[in-house]
Amino acid sequence: MERKPITTSTIRQMKVEGRPSTMITAYDYAMARNVDEAGIDMILVGDSVGNVMLGYSSTIPVTMDAMIHHTQAVVRGTKYALVVGDMPFMSYQASEAEGLMNAGRFLKEGGCAAIKLEGGSEVCPLVKKMVTAGIPVMGHIGLTPQSVNQFGGFKVQGKDVAAAQKLVDDAKALEAAGAFSIVLECVPAALAAKVSEMISIPTIGIGAGNGCDGQVLVCNDLLGVSNGFTPKFVKKYRDLHQEIVGAVSEYISDVRDRSFPAPEHTFKIDDEVLEKLY
Ligand code: KIV
Repeated sequence: MERKPITTSTIRQMKVEGRPSTMITAYDYAMARNVDEAGIDMILVGDSVGNVMLGYSSTIPVTMDAMIHHTQAVVRGTKYALVVGDMPFMSYQASEAEGLMNAGRFLKEGGCAAIKLEGGSEVCPLVKKMVTAGIPVMGHIGLTPQSVNQFGGFKVQGKDVAAAQKLVDDAKALEAAGAFSIVLECVPAALAAKVSEMISIPTIGIGAGNGCDGQVLVCNDLLGVSNGFTPKFVKKYRDLHQEIVGAVSEYISDVRDRSFPAPEHTFKIDDEVLEKLY
């Protein structure tokens, strides 16, 4: 079947047809090419770039300029997937005007087709303005990592009646504001399934069970690129950390015993040229 570029309408239609949508993060050209070739529906240029690629302990230090830089690289490597740029901390919290301009930068400079931002009903006036300006918006509720200092750590959200009701209200408010989908992060599975039934736009779960309309994971987590902490909700499909350490150790040993480069990795020159040198 001929592959067509994915749009926000495709993602909404998938929910109507009961087909789960897939999203993965990527932060550079090479990974974007790989995950796009694999057939992923959406690529999130997450502000998790801060932890995953830049070595920060949270997403808080990530800047708009860094996000644009990574988004441009991902867009260059993507043919089919819908690329979503993630609004970093303080790119939209200070004023709606600034939020709107920064969302616009993702489309104008980054070249992506949609943005994601964290927050519930409090961000809905801004979401409406973005959508009115022609910027497709993905919401993000539940555990929102930019508020980690307020939550006091990375904890499952929505466990009591008040918190669960707030999650439902926020999801409905984002839907009414015009968001095309909502990430639900670290939410009990039964609550995420209920929220997914209560709104018409797709929910994309991470640590939210299989009752969501789609799933998202951080690429380095599912590929096992590092041997650091892995959250409970991650399924590690490969152990690339072992693969990388193993491959680089072999390279080191080949160089040290001069078995690399071998003749097949080497360029030749006529002996007579060498003989003429003095
Ligand atoms: O930045 C990110 O990677 C995210 C996902 C965890 C949804 O926001």
